[in-house]
Amino acid sequence: MAYLECSGICKSFGHLRAVDGADLAVERGEFIGLLGPSGSGKTTLLRIVAGFEQPDSGTIHLDGRNVTGLSPQKRDMGMVFQSYALFPNMTAYQNVAFGLQVRRQGRSQIKGRVDELLELVGLADKTSHLPHQLSGGEQQRVALARALAPQPRVLLLDEPLSALDARIRLSLRQEIRRIQRALQITTLYVTHDQEEALAMSDRVVVFHAGRIEQFGRPEEIYDRPVNAFVAGFVGTTNLLQAEVLSSSGACRLDGQILDLPKVPSGLRDGDQLELRVRPEHIRLSPQPGSGRLQAVVEDIMFLGGRLSLRASIGRQVLWVEMPRGPGEVAPSPGDAVDLYLPHEVLVAHAAHPDSTVPAGSA
Ligand SMILES: Nc1ncnc2c1ncn2[C@@H]1O[C@H](COP(=O)(O)OP(=O)(O)OP(=O)(O)O)[C@@H](O)[C@H]1O
Ligand SMILES: [Mg+2]
Repeated sequence: MAYLECSGICKSFGHLRAVDGADLAVERGEFIGLLGPSGSGKTTLLRIVAGFEQPDSGTIHLDGRNVTGLSPQKRDMGMVFQSYALFPNMTAYQNVAFGLQVRRQGRSQIKGRVDELLELVGLADKTSHLPHQLSGGEQQRVALARALAPQPRVLLLDEPLSALDARIRLSLRQEIRRIQRALQITTLYVTHDQEEALAMSDRVVVFHAGRIEQFGRPEEIYDRPVNAFVAGFVGTTNLLQAEVLSSSGACRLDGQILDLPKVPSGLRDGDQLELRVRPEHIRLSPQPGSGRLQAVVEDIMFLGGRLSLRASIGRQVLWVEMPRGPGEVAPSPGDAVDLYLPHEVLVAHAAHPDSTVPAGSA
């Protein structure tokens, strides 16, 4: 059994299924990003893990022990909420010390621990500041120190950076990860920022309408999304319509023939097919193991170090993104170009959302 294990968690509010059969197995010390659109059930699942909410069915195990019926205080978990939720009339020091006083620890022991934590989050010089005398980022550091003070076995963070501006987010993100690694604390981190989830996590959970759509390493989620929802939610993806010409792998796409390594099983000649490919995986020069399509450049945009290109293939549109090498001549609008779609990153599935098979898989 994994260190933290959620099995078959369901939770409804009235007729609404906020969490619909979530299974999640997390290893000790892992950093897990919970990613999903607003209302998909991320906070609800986190609150169930913390014990603030009881599931209708399902169990939570921590280190082999069933904690499902335990109160939050008895679970050894620390939580940081989206809103800072610091005690407004207590200093940074008192906020961090609070959980330790409740646990009736000795004065000098508390002082040692609080000083150590405020040092860890970089606030050693602001221990006597009240929350309103701290910036948003500093308040969130206090909230983090407060959650960590009782040495929880699991750290739960619910969009801890969402109220902060982009630059502070970036540095605090690295800070949280550094602290998490130093303490080797098992962490669930909720965000609806895909870049944040991919950048920070050992593994990412993609949530949608109360269900876990995919759970895997960031590269897996990005390179091999299991379905159209994950592909569309994480990064950008091109979707092309095609028709199966032969089961050996040829398909027709707006009058052109494109070779796939194989056609998804169950599809016959004449069936409709959808192809997905990331803009940055498409190449303008011949590649071994790829399919070729002729296209016309519609528009081109310079994005500093990268070029973004909109191309048309008959009535279909394809986005291409590529690094811009020094002295390279970029195509211009109106140019005819050949686009190469590498087989290993081209995903083909029936024009029906449920059956998805990577085109490159055996
Ligand atoms: N206490 C509650 N009573 C009724 N409905 C609730 C309650 N808590 C959550 N919900 C509903 O459950 C669904 C999931 O909510 P949840 O807060 O878990 O979403 P979320 O993924 O955290 O979204 P966000 O990214 O906006 O924070 C939503 O439709 C929400 O309205
Ligand atoms: Mg939420």
